[in-house]
Amino acid sequence: MSRYLFDNTDARTPDRFAVLESCYDHVSRRRLELTGLAPGWRCLEVGGGGGSLGDWLAERTGPDGEVTVTDIDPRWAESRPHSPQVRLLHHDIVNDPLPGDGYDLIHARLVLIHLPERLQVLDRLVRALRPGGTLVLEEFDCHWSPVLASPDEESEALFDHVQAALLAQLQKAGADPLWGRRVLGAMRRAGLEDVTATTYAESWQGGTPGIDLHRVNAQQTEAGLRADGVTEAELQRFYALLRDPGFVVNSPPLISAQGRRRGR
Ligand SMILES: C[S@@+](CC[C@H](N)C(=O)[O-])C[C@H]1O[C@@H](n2cnc3c(N)ncnc32)[C@H](O)[C@@H]1O
Repeated sequence: MSRYLFDNTDARTPDRFAVLESCYDHVSRRRLELTGLAPGWRCLEVGGGGGSLGDWLAERTGPDGEVTVTDIDPRWAESRPHSPQVRLLHHDIVNDPLPGDGYDLIHARLVLIHLPERLQVLDRLVRALRPGGTLVLEEFDCHWSPVLASPDEESEALFDHVQAALLAQLQKAGADPLWGRRVLGAMRRAGLEDVTATTYAESWQGGTPGIDLHRVNAQQTEAGLRADGVTEAELQRFYALLRDPGFVVNSPPLISAQGRRRGR
């Protein structure tokens, strides 16, 4: 059974979506352009979160296009003005019937990584494409976030300790922190053709917007982190470290993979 660890009812969720949009929307847009995205296309954006990419897809597909954005809890996309061409759906990609089929393009960023049923969902998404249609999945490889600069060795060890505990929380909820490095192979096995991928990462300095993803993730899972032995003092030092300009960590690499359904 699917259980998304980072509950969208949490008031800090917009902070997560703000980081994802500011750090990764430009990467996603470039990858989506490579699909040949054109006016009139029918697009499905799965687990659309804050909804920014849905709006961008609507701009690019124009008045003759169709963009459906789904989420198990689309409250944050609903709460901001969005294009009239975007259909927002309260929808569970694991359990609900698909909202349509014959899509030219299906995109999901950082959604399947959380779903224990990710391979079944992948098969469903492939079947929902038109022949020749394109699936783009963008996923983190959470096991490659090296510390690039640190005020001292203790701080580096603290970051690694909290990060390991956070990955354990993700795994307990059914996420696969290594899904990013597995996604291309899974897409090939699901029958897609011309599967390619690019990987994007950048340095995140303490006190800059990107590194805030680590704060929001830790704050939303504090109870589980404490239960797994992270102390209150460690958590407070961790939050202070994320504000320290002397600390720099590599962002989790985002692997953007695309593949085409057979046929024309
Ligand atoms: C990490 S966020 C990513 C949001 C957005 N795709 C982005 O990259 O900015 C994961 C999103 O997937 C949604 N989600 C989780 N499980 C889902 C499911 N079973 N069906 C649809 N959406 C789901 C969550 O509600 C959340 O908005």
